[in-house]
Amino acid sequence: MEFPFDINQIFTERVSFLDQNLAADRWTARRPDLQANLATVIDELGRASAKAQQLTAAVTSASKLQSQRHQLYLLKDGESSGGRGAVVGFLKVGHKKLFLLDRHGVHVEAEPLCVLDFYIAENLQRHGYGLELFDFMLQHKNVEPGRMAYDRPSPKLLSFLEKHYSLTQNVPQVNNFVVFEDFFFNRAAVQ
Ligand code: ACO
Repeated sequence: MEFPFDINQIFTERVSFLDQNLAADRWTARRPDLQANLATVIDELGRASAKAQQLTAAVTSASKLQSQRHQLYLLKDGESSGGRGAVVGFLKVGHKKLFLLDRHGVHVEAEPLCVLDFYIAENLQRHGYGLELFDFMLQHKNVEPGRMAYDRPSPKLLSFLEKHYSLTQNVPQVNNFVVFEDFFFNRAAVQ
């Protein structure tokens, strides 16, 4: 995704990590103009993701990121757009308190790291960028994909998880979250 400003000035790394402070680094934090452009990027990505998933409202926006304790990883291609850089996509994660059912229907209370939103620009999908971003997050958080929960995953995300992480056996839930069998390994049931 291209923007009418310099992406490389806002996001200095190939993968940037953003939280409530909405700043890719200390330099951006002190520049209101860069902060405004960063908010434009997040809003635009959130809208594109919602459209791709046919959602009526965006799950991700700059203001939501500021008010919720979620974290966002943003992948850029620094070489494109004549050296100004373009945004490839993003992955948003966060902890949620969930009441889940294990394979035997036993209630388990947990607060796992959840995948909340995930989007790679339309023309760049199926080129391995999603995997690059997801693997970066797994290393950064030191978490296994099977220990995470997935909020209303799209068919593309389910296919992605099966292909790259062999996650196939999901355990039926009564909420919108999907978890896999590994999730319940060594986790205590609610007494
Ligand atoms: N149809 C089916 N499966 C797909 C598609 C597609 N159009 N695109 C990606 N995949 C899955 C497949 O398993 C594919 O492997 P294959 O090409 O051998 O079939 C695999 O992902 C490719 O892996 P990557 O190239 O690393 O993934 P990509 O860069 O495409 O990113 C993502 C995956 C983020 C799901 C991307 O396809 C996307 O943005 N889709 C639209 C938005 C979306 O559905 N996001 C998930 C929302 S749900 C949530 O966030 C909780």
